[in-house]
This record gives sequence, structure tokens and C-alpha cells, in this order.
Amino acid sequence: MRKIRFASIYLFTLSVVFYVLGTYTVYHTIAMTNSINHQYLGYPEYLHLVFFLVGFLALCSIYFAEKMEVNVLSQTNAALEKEINKRNQTGDELRKSEEMNKELYAEAKRAEEVYRSLLHSSADAIVIYDLEGKAGYISPVFTQIFGWTLEEVKGKRISFVPEFEKESTMAIIKDLVEKGTPCHGFETKRYTKDGRLLDVSISASRYNDHQGSPTGLLVILRDISEKKRLEAQLQYTERIEAIGTLAGGIAHDFNNLMMGMLGNISLILYETEPVNPHYEKLINIEKLIQSGSKLTKQILGYARKGKYEVKAVSLNQIVKESCETFGRIRKNIKIHWEFAQDLLAIKADESQIEQVLMNLYINAADAMSDGGDLLLQTMNATHMEMSDKRYDPKPGDYVLLKVIDNGTGIDEKIIDRIFEPFFTTKEMERGSGLGLASAYGIIKGHGGYIDVDSEKGHGTTFSIFLPASGKSIHETLENSEQIIKGDETVLLVDDEEIVIDVGVQILEKLGYTVFEARSGREAVRVFNEKRDKIDMVILDVIMPDMGGSEAYEKMKEIDPEVKVLLSSGYSIDGQANEILKRGCDGFIQKPFNMKDLSKKIREVLKKDESSHTPFS
Ligand SMILES: Nc1ncnc2c1ncn2[C@@H]1O[C@H](COP(=O)(O)OP(=O)(O)OP(=O)(O)O)[C@@H](O)[C@H]1O
Ligand SMILES: [Mg+2]
Repeated sequence: MRKIRFASIYLFTLSVVFYVLGTYTVYHTIAMTNSINHQYLGYPEYLHLVFFLVGFLALCSIYFAEKMEVNVLSQTNAALEKEINKRNQTGDELRKSEEMNKELYAEAKRAEEVYRSLLHSSADAIVIYDLEGKAGYISPVFTQIFGWTLEEVKGKRISFVPEFEKESTMAIIKDLVEKGTPCHGFETKRYTKDGRLLDVSISASRYNDHQGSPTGLLVILRDISEKKRLEAQLQYTERIEAIGTLAGGIAHDFNNLMMGMLGNISLILYETEPVNPHYEKLINIEKLIQSGSKLTKQILGYARKGKYEVKAVSLNQIVKESCETFGRIRKNIKIHWEFAQDLLAIKADESQIEQVLMNLYINAADAMSDGGDLLLQTMNATHMEMSDKRYDPKPGDYVLLKVIDNGTGIDEKIIDRIFEPFFTTKEMERGSGLGLASAYGIIKGHGGYIDVDSEKGHGTTFSIFLPASGKSIHETLENSEQIIKGDETVLLVDDEEIVIDVGVQILEKLGYTVFEARSGREAVRVFNEKRDKIDMVILDVIMPDMGGSEAYEKMKEIDPEVKVLLSSGYSIDGQANEILKRGCDGFIQKPFNMKDLSKKIREVLKKDESSHTPFS
């Protein structure tokens, strides 16, 4: 364009020059013609025309050149305008998309906040790992449970997998990383920062980035230590209960057999003079049966079916008497006691508590075979003192007895098993493994708790909590070593032939007149017929057609003053206890010998003992 314009200007200038030159030539020619009289008439007239034409052409070319330029310019202008419009449009679109982007960003930020707060507020611990197992995020609960903070573990592996769990953990991680197989509720163990071992349940999954490529692992850890502990405790209790039921059943039958043996031996001994050559042997047999019966008693205690004679007693007194007896047998053990003077009374079956104590003393002495110290402490306590223990005690006042020895102590590996029946570390002859099992059963049966604390090589402490009773302490009867005879009439009720057979003989030897009945129904009938003659009834608790409970009720209807001594090998669901509460006069546990029975009968009849002859 510039070239065209330049050419046009050039031509126009040229035409102006020619025009001026042309005009000058015409003027010169006329002047010459006038002054010289046609002397120079032959000049080229066409030259002026030529100059004029050239000038005209130059002007035209300028005009067209300008025209063309205007055209080109307006075309360019239109194109520019179009371009500007287009740009404006794009600008609007850009602005819009910028706004949209801002909104999306804000939304993404909000979503991120929500996810972050979700992770933060989870009740379980959360860890996000990359595919190499390095932690990128841990939730605050993770820090709470395991102790590590985010700064401590970020970009690192968390070394909390115990050696013995590594193989199973690696197998799960491999599946997760390579195949994306998620894991649910994988129960395992993990260390905390301070070295405690926790039971945890792990659920984990692999997650992808926005393009769908696997990026990391989301791992949720739940602390199930408490659940595991309760499960173990429940299993333990269930196991103990099941064995208890079995043992209780066996003990019942065993008791009846021993009742027969003991009764017969008592009868023979009663008629045998001490000078008789068999007298010593008979005494030995009686002792053996009595130790057999002790074993049954332990099983019954363990089965928690033998708690009968419950009364308010002083634990100080029971402990003092039992340890004095024990001290006489094991002379190499020094016994010390620290008794609380204001100790609350307990409601307990004295003989069963004695049985528990004896077991503990013997265990302690066995753990101090070369002699040692046995410390017995009593104190008042409350359920709060048991708060860190595995029990969930009933709130209230308790009496606490501690039996402390400085013997061998108990190995950590076996301490959880010592209350199991038949668990023993002693040789065949020396331990049956029933001592602590029965202690556990008896204390539990009294609404109490027994616990152990021991350090290998340093000694053991057994703590027994028994619920305190508001009642004042019952006067204990003098422990008579004599057989006391009587002359009243007794109705003996038992469905076991052995018991009737031997019982009748013993009673008759003791001077009583005896009626017998082999069932509850028969007992009620006999009692109805002979009520004026019968002074007391010895009544079995468990009988097939009509049990002791119902028979007692019926006899009470006939004579509200009827005196009844209950006898049983064991009681199902505490039936004996329940009958005693209804006003029954006493209880004797089978097997019993002549002496025990003679004492119990006198207690029930509450006759003036002076009118009866004591025999040694
Ligand atoms: N004071 C103690 N010191 C060390 N070990 C003890 C103590 N008390 C109990 N044990 C351990 O607990 C085990 C179980 O005790 P438990 O009284 O139930 O049975 P036992 O004494 O072996 O047999 P049993 O009491 O039937 O004669 C014992 O064999 C012993 O290993
Ligand atoms: Mg023992």
C-alpha cells in the first residue's frame, strides 16, 4: 500500500511539474508569437497536452490508489472489529470460567475440610500410608491410643508391629497393595510408643487418585484390648462354671457313698474298745474317709453349692483360730498378724472360710519349704479399693484379708491358671489342684472377690474381699469333742438307702427312737400319723417325688412348731439355704459322723444339755 501511495505521489508530482512546464511553454509560445510575429510558429503544441495528460493520469492514479487504500483499510478494520468482538467474547468466557474455577476451588476446599474433620473425629485411629508403607497422615485418636504424633511419623514407617505378628500382617498388606483386597476386622496386636502391647482390630483398603491409579492405603485401627480381656474373663468364668457343675454332680454321689462308709465306721468304733487290735486301723479308716470327705467338700465349695450355715462372724476370730491350728502343724513358718480392731463383721459360712484359709496357708507353706514368714492382715475396705482390678464389684463396705508370704512366688506364665480346678505344679501325692479353685468358688459364693499378686522369687499376696455385714457377731457354739446322747424320737427322711440304713443305726446308738421315711410324701404321712411322738425331723433336701422344701412346708402346716434339721450332700440353687430362711432349725452336711450328728441334734432340740450324758 505504501508503495502504491509512493508511486501515486511520485506521478502526481511529475504531472504538476509537466503541467507547470506545459503552461509555461504555452505562455512562452504566445508571447513569442506576439512579439516576434509568427517567427517561432513551429513549436510542438502537443507537448502541453502530453504534460496535461500525464498530470491527469497521475491524479487519477492517486485517486485510485487512495480509493484502494481506503478499501483495504476498511477491510482491515472490519477484520479487526471481528477480532475484537471475538476477543471480548473470549474474555467473558474466561471471566466466567475463572469464577467457576474459584467456586470449584472453594467447594473442593470445603470438601477437604469435611473429609479432614471426618478423619479427625473418627473414634478409631486412622493412618493413611503411601504404597511404600510410609505414613502421610495419622488421626488425633491414633496419637491418643499409640502415643506417636504426626510430626514424629510423617513420611516414615511406624514401627509398631510385634515380631510375631509380622508375617500375617505382611500377607494382608501384600494382598491389599497388589490386588486391592480390603481387610475387615483383622485381629492382631500392636505396640504403643511406650511399649505396651494392645489388642487391635484392623480394617484397611487401598485408595486411588483422581485418575484411578492406586495411591495409598487407608488403615483404621480399633483398640479392642478391653473387649479381649472381658472375653477371656467370660471364657474363664464359663469354663469354671461348667467344670463346677460337673464336679458338683460327682461330689453329690460321692458324698452319699462316704456317708455310708463313715456311718458304718462310726458304729463299729462305737462298739469297739480301744484295746481291740483293730481299733487303730478303724481309726485310720475313719481318718481316710474324712480326708476323702474333705476333698468332696472342696469340690462342693468350688461348685459353689455348699454354702449353708451363714451367720455374722468375725473374720479376725476365724483367721486367728485357723492360723494357730496351722502354726502347730508347720512349725518352720513364722506367723504374724495385723488385725484391724474395728473390723466389720461378715456374713459367712465359717467352716467354708476356714477351708479357704487352710488352703492358702498350706500353699504359702509349700512355697516356703525352707521356712519363711506368713503375714495375715485384716482391714476394712470398700468396693473402691477394687476399682483397678478385673472385677466389677457391688458397691459397699468390704472386709479385706491379705495373706502374704515370702516364698517362691508364682511364675507369670501360670498365674492366670492357678484358680482353675486340677491345676497344680505339685507332685501327684501332694496337690490335687483343687485348693484355689474351691477358694475361688467359696469366696464368689459369699459375694466376695479373691485376687493374687505375685513376683517370682519374692513372694505372693492373696487378697480376699468379703462383703461386710451390718449384723452383730453371732455367738459361736463351743466346739465340743464329745458325743451327746438323747432319748427323743426322730423321724429320719432320706431317699438313699445307705443313709437310712446307717442313720437309723447311729440314731439308735445315740439313744433316740427312730421313724424312717424314704420320700417327702412318706415323711408327711408318717409325721401326720405320729406327730405327738416325733420331737424332730432329719430331712434330706433333694428327693425325687417330693423334695425337702415341700415336705417341710406340709409338716409345718400340720405342726407349726415342728423342729427340722436339714441334711444334704449339696443343694441345687441354694434350696437348703432357702428352707433355712423359712425357719428351719439347722443344717448338717453329709457325710456326717456320730459326733457331728449328736451335736446338731442337740442344737436343734435345744434341750437342757445337763440332762444328757456326754461320751468321749
Ligand atoms: N502362695 C503361693 N506361692 C507360690 N505358688 C502358689 C501359691 N499358691 C498357689 N500357688 C500355685 O498355684 C497352684 C495351684 O494351687 P492350688 O491350691 O489350687 O492347688 P495345689 O496346692 O497344687 O493342690 P491342692 O490345694 O489341691 O492340694 C499350686 O500348685 C502352686 O503352683
Ligand atoms: Mg493348695
